[in-house]
Amino acid sequence: MSDSFKAVVINNERENFTREVKELNLDHFKDGEVLVKIDYSDLNWKDAMILKDGGKLVKEYPRIPGIDFSGTVVQGYGVEFKEGDRVILTGCRAGELFDGGYAQYTKVKSEHITKTPERINNRQAMILGTAGLTALLCAFAVKAKEELLMQSKVNDVLVTGSTGGVGMVAVMVLAKMGMDVTAITGKPDKADYLKELGAKNVVDRKEFEGDARLIDKGTWDGVVDTVGGNILANAIAQTKPKGIVAICGNASGNKLNTSVIPFILRAVKLWGVDSVNISKKRKEFIWNEFPGLLDFDILEKSVNTVGLDDLLNIFPDMLHGKLKNKIVVDVNK
Ligand SMILES: NC(=O)c1ccc[n+]([C@@H]2O[C@H](COP(=O)([O-])OP(=O)(O)OC[C@H]3O[C@@H](n4cnc5c(N)ncnc54)[C@H](OP(=O)(O)O)[C@@H]3O)[C@@H](O)[C@H]2O)c1
Repeated sequence: MSDSFKAVVINNERENFTREVKELNLDHFKDGEVLVKIDYSDLNWKDAMILKDGGKLVKEYPRIPGIDFSGTVVQGYGVEFKEGDRVILTGCRAGELFDGGYAQYTKVKSEHITKTPERINNRQAMILGTAGLTALLCAFAVKAKEELLMQSKVNDVLVTGSTGGVGMVAVMVLAKMGMDVTAITGKPDKADYLKELGAKNVVDRKEFEGDARLIDKGTWDGVVDTVGGNILANAIAQTKPKGIVAICGNASGNKLNTSVIPFILRAVKLWGVDSVNISKKRKEFIWNEFPGLLDFDILEKSVNTVGLDDLLNIFPDMLHGKLKNKIVVDVNK
């Protein structure tokens, strides 16, 4: 095993922000106890913000960004991780507070990684990544209406930002759970693909962009929202009594102009989802639920694979809403 490896390194010396692919040595890693050979990472909204200018998230430089990775343990630790184990890291603030996944090797704390389920390969793990994990957390939140609150069955669900990394996995898993999914998108040319993922209906996002009424026709048992703003406000107003609205993102903005009416007249529930601060136990549970809820042949159709150099050219497209596909990063390409 060579001691040198390639990594994206961001720096911010005297307010001069830089990003480049560099050759580093394994002695670069001062913390962590498990040495992992990384195979894949991916590109999330947070990654794009960090690659742009640190996104006010990175506290110390230089830093290897990349909030997710999948790979294989090279040097184990204790009884939990031994050489050859396949592992995943998502969230945990990798790429912000410690080095992340845009590298051929990393050294991490054992508490930050989980074993990859046998039925998922390392590439598939990063087709999902933080976005996929978040989608499943949202889907379980929506399903809580029937399972935890013991209300009527969840039939009609709405997914916003449906062609995004979170949205497309949410469409697929909700459909596999047996729900009728309506997908909102700003990309009408993706309607056929959304139907292949499992959407029953596809709606142009323009229909949801106007100001929301205090209360609207109750249409949705559940909502997975990735965008916020007026689209979310309309979705809340259209949620049926006791419905659950799982919110995880702000792709259209941080503002939410709603009223108390849907909550006090219909007992609508807003369920915030954060994929970073969840226990390792819950993460393991979620990863092990995936195989039965996904068809990777279909997800693969909307994946572009890039190397570390290409990543530095394409990440701004995510921030400008120009990406049409999920980006998987092959760090050895
Ligand atoms: N809470 C958490 O733990 C967590 C985890 C992961 C992601 N997130 C957040 O979830 C959001 C989605 O993440 P992602 O990875 O799916 O991002 P993404 O791949 O960039 O997808 C976002 C999608 O939102 C839609 N969109 C973009 N700009 C919009 C606008 N101005 N108005 C309305 N819709 C717009 C687009 O879908 P259509 O064209 O199909 O409408 C786009 O594909 C982000 O805000 C991200 O930060 C949060």
